[in-house]
Amino acid sequence: VHSDIDDGVDIDAVAAAVDGDTALVSLSHVAYRSGALAPIGDVTRLVHDTGALMLWDLSHSAGSVPVQLAEHDVDLAVGCTYKYLNGGPGSPAFLYVRGDLVPELQQPVWGWFGQRGQFEMGEAYDPLPDIRRFLVGTPPVLPLYTIRDAVAMLAEAGIERLRAKGVALTEFLVRVADAWLAPLGFRLASPRDPAARGSHVALHHPDAYRICRALIETADVVPDFRTPDRIRLGPAPIATRFVDVYDALDRLRDLVERGAYERFGSERLAVT
Ligand SMILES: Cc1ncc(COP(=O)(O)O)c(C=O)c1O
Repeated sequence: VHSDIDDGVDIDAVAAAVDGDTALVSLSHVAYRSGALAPIGDVTRLVHDTGALMLWDLSHSAGSVPVQLAEHDVDLAVGCTYKYLNGGPGSPAFLYVRGDLVPELQQPVWGWFGQRGQFEMGEAYDPLPDIRRFLVGTPPVLPLYTIRDAVAMLAEAGIERLRAKGVALTEFLVRVADAWLAPLGFRLASPRDPAARGSHVALHHPDAYRICRALIETADVVPDFRTPDRIRLGPAPIATRFVDVYDALDRLRDLVERGAYERFGSERLAVT
C-alpha cells in the first residue's frame, strides 16, 4: 500500500488494496518517519468489511497517544517498549491479541514458556489456552523490571495528559521551526494538524544527515536522521520540558546559520 512519507497512509489506498483474498493487513498507527497518525477506527472497519484481520504496529503510539484497541475491535497489535514507554534499548516487545482469537491463533515458534506444563518437558507441544501461548523462551528479566516501573510512571501521569502535553510540545516545536528554521531552508515534513500526528515531528532539509551528526556531536541534541532527508525530533512528553524544545531548536538554528555542520561527511554511520 502506497503511503505518503509525510502525510501517512491514505485510507483510499488501503481500500483499493484489500479484497476478499486478503488475510491480514498490517500498518503502523503512528508513522515512524513523519509521525502521521492513521485513522485506526476507519481503517480497521474497512479491513473487517473485507473479512481480513487487522494488525497495528503501536511502536510509536504506545505511551504517546491514546489507543482504543477494544473499542475499534482491533484483532492484533504489536510494538516495542523502548520509545514512549521508556524501557530503553533491549526492553521487550509486546503483543495484543483480541480475546476470542487467542485460542485460534498458533505461535509458530514453539518454546517452553508457551507450553502447558512448562517443566514437564514432554514430547508434544501443547500450548497454553491463554495469551501466554504466544510466549517463547525466557524473557529478559532485568528489562522487564525497568519497563514495569517506566509504565507505572506513565500510568500515573495518564495517557490523556501525556497526549495533551505531546500535542502542546509538538505545536510549540512547529511554531518555533516555522519562525526560525523555515528561513534557513527547513520544511515541516509531518502533518500540520496536531490531531493527525503522534508525538514526534520531522523536518526536511537537504543536508539533514550532516545536521543530525552536528547536533549529536557538537550540540548535545539527539535527533534521528531518517531517509531520505529528514530530521526526526521526538520530545517524549513525560520527560521533555518546553525549554528543552526551545534550546534544541536554538542550537539547531545556530549551527545551521554558522554552517557548523559542513565539516561532517555525508557517509552514513551504522546508526542514524
Ligand atoms: C514501526 C516500528 N516497529 C517496530 C519497531 C521495533 O522493532 P524491534 O522490536 O525489532 O526493535 C520499531 C523501532 O524502531 C518501529 O519503528
